[in-house]
Amino acid sequence: MKVTASKFDIAKISAECLVCGVWEGDGRNLPKGVDGLTDGAILRFLKKKEKFGKLYEGIVFTVSPKKHKTLEKIVLFGLGKKEKLEPVYLRQFAAAVSKSQTKGAKSLSLYLPKEVKASENAELVVVGFSSGIFDPGHRKTGEESKSKVKVESLEILTEEDLKKVKEGAEKGLIISETMDRVREVVNLPANVCTPEYMVKFAKKIAAENKLKIEVFSEKQVNDMGMGIMASVAKGSEEDLYFVVMRYLGGGSSAKTLALVGKGITFDSGGISIKPGDNMEWMKMDMAGAAACLGAMEVIAKLKPKINVVCAVPLTENLPSGKASKPGDVVKGLSGKTVEIINTDAEGRLVLSDALTYVQNKFKPDYIVDVATLTGAAIVALGNWASAILGRPQNFIDEVIKTGVESGERYWQLPLYAEYRDQLKSYIADIANVSSVRGGGTETGGKFLEEFVGKKTAWAHLDICATAWEEQEGPYASKGATGIPLVTLVNLALSLSQK
Ligand code: BES
Ligand code: ZN
Ligand code: MN
Repeated sequence: MKVTASKFDIAKISAECLVCGVWEGDGRNLPKGVDGLTDGAILRFLKKKEKFGKLYEGIVFTVSPKKHKTLEKIVLFGLGKKEKLEPVYLRQFAAAVSKSQTKGAKSLSLYLPKEVKASENAELVVVGFSSGIFDPGHRKTGEESKSKVKVESLEILTEEDLKKVKEGAEKGLIISETMDRVREVVNLPANVCTPEYMVKFAKKIAAENKLKIEVFSEKQVNDMGMGIMASVAKGSEEDLYFVVMRYLGGGSSAKTLALVGKGITFDSGGISIKPGDNMEWMKMDMAGAAACLGAMEVIAKLKPKINVVCAVPLTENLPSGKASKPGDVVKGLSGKTVEIINTDAEGRLVLSDALTYVQNKFKPDYIVDVATLTGAAIVALGNWASAILGRPQNFIDEVIKTGVESGERYWQLPLYAEYRDQLKSYIADIANVSSVRGGGTETGGKFLEEFVGKKTAWAHLDICATAWEEQEGPYASKGATGIPLVTLVNLALSLSQK
């Protein structure tokens, strides 16, 4: 897809479809010449439906014959109430635009009311627009061609600085390309997307973007002393891999950001096996790893002055005669021992050793771990925000702010000392699940905190609820969302400015 920016001039539009974003109840405020192309049909409609313009509400008008050289359709698309527009809604608005009314048009022009500052929002608009076109159904036999009406160009119409708009749009395109790649791999079934497949995915990203990569085998992971990580892989026929990728953009005096992603290619729960309902969903338990690897690709393309290391443990969590059992005690790289009370709390196990490894080896200034860690995050927040936990507070605030500006929401949960008490084990240093009900996301975070040095800024993103869309909606297709790729990229950029 190509994205351009131009001043609004109805005669100069060369697209098939013009989309005008409208505020709720304020639809008549259209740019010059638009209504005329429909012989007044738009204004007649808005007279009857004055409140038109709710978020994601759209209507298509046909351009009267011979009125315009290229335009065939004009679409009004609701932005909701002016004072309620947040970055997340703008991104989803753009996704809804490309996902709905515009289907079939190869070229589009998009006009947004002046209050939506195009120079500040072009990136978000392009990311959203591109994500709305994403097609997860490519594995349906014979349907490949059906869904492939490709949007070839998007023109953003604006009165603002075109150079700035173009820059934002270009960055948005770079992110979008990787976002598609991330969503593809998260959607892949676990019989295709094995730990080994993820290694290939990571190697491809590294090779294409000239990133350093190391791949440790299961034997190496064991030999290095990462026994907590290795314990998760014991039940699987597939080998575990631990991938470490590096971007060196800042030189030796620059800060280092570590991204640590949970890469469970299928989570059956292990011996503490999950109920069958919705278990197929657990192929997405590597969404954290995929987003971290994707972030490395975008960071390599945008070249911020910072060093970034990405570490992803990749394995399945399956039951077998060789699998870890409830009550097993394992020891990790930090020297700490863990009593595995529940083999289904495997994400924190693989992450604990990955966290220790990156700290020992790279002494990062900041760590962000990304994981589909707890169903409790869905209970707490529904599908509308990722949970964030960590410290110090100013770092958490920065991640939240960056995320919100990227159209990805976070809600902070606490790490009170009491949650640590819930993780006491009578036999080992820590238990992998809480002894009492409640606070599942918090105890997950608290477990990870045990493996993060007190002085390191650290954020844990529990993306359980946000990485996966359960149903087809106005702005998203069922399946992987790509969240929190944009947050990770923009965080690396903003930390590089410090
Ligand atoms: N991968 C799951 C969490 C999950 C749940 C992801 C739903 C996506 C959708 C994780 O490994 C898990 O099983 N967590 C347990 C933790 C519990 C045993 C403490 C959970 O949430 O039940
Ligand atoms: Zn899991
Ligand atoms: Mn699990």
